[in-house]
Amino acid sequence: MDNMKISAILYSIVAIIFILCAATGGSPAFYGVAAAFIALAAASYPKKNKKDCEQTGIPAISYKDEPSLSNMRVIIFIGGLYAGGVRGLTKTLRNFHLRDNQKLILVTVGLANPNEQENRDNIRVSLQKQLSPEVFYKIKFFHLRGRIDYNKLTFVYSMMMKLRYHSLRKKPLETLTSEDRTFINTYGKQASFIDFNALKPIIKEIYLPVERVP
Ligand SMILES: Cc1cc2nc3c(=O)[nH]c(=O)nc-3n(C[C@H](O)[C@H](O)[C@H](O)COP(=O)(O)O)c2cc1C
Repeated sequence: MDNMKISAILYSIVAIIFILCAATGGSPAFYGVAAAFIALAAASYPKKNKKDCEQTGIPAISYKDEPSLSNMRVIIFIGGLYAGGVRGLTKTLRNFHLRDNQKLILVTVGLANPNEQENRDNIRVSLQKQLSPEVFYKIKFFHLRGRIDYNKLTFVYSMMMKLRYHSLRKKPLETLTSEDRTFINTYGKQASFIDFNALKPIIKEIYLPVERVP
């Protein structure tokens, strides 16, 4: 369950507690507090994403909405890298079988530079753990760079990053990978490596015929 849903549930529980307190003889002001928590619960409940991709007009649907993939000819999954894995990928492709006339394009978005072979190899190794061999060998992969704003990280992500930063700082500099160095250089800051031109080969791939993999 994602953080927003958990927050909505917690706010709802607090609202119910205040309603019960008001109903069992507590101050009527508790109803007002309950109403405030109900409003918070409604505001934090995740909304359905109904945006279309600006460059292709293809509907962009969040994996959290669990779209049905079986009738799609081309599926493009774009996901952020979190500790090597792509967020939402395992859940989305659970029980998914790629048909012969279907194309699956997987786009990872991370901070590490995918133009470096070592980083690409690391991403592929992680993806191999997330995907069934049947799907892995038929997928078209692309790797993009994203952005980070440490002021906007959730508490859990912030702690994960802190732990990683302190463990990397203890290592000798020459043993750090390029990904580690990018991590250290961007730690605690706002950094963006977004380049919309990098979308061009992905858009081209969408319209190419499906390749047959034996
Ligand atoms: C907890 C955490 C773990 C991350 N792990 C990786 C990683 O393993 N490799 C990488 O290249 N980027 C990593 N990143 C950076 C994100 O992939 C990057 O911020 C990306 O743009 C996130 O996209 P999104 O916000 O659309 O999910 C991590 C970021 C966070 C907060």
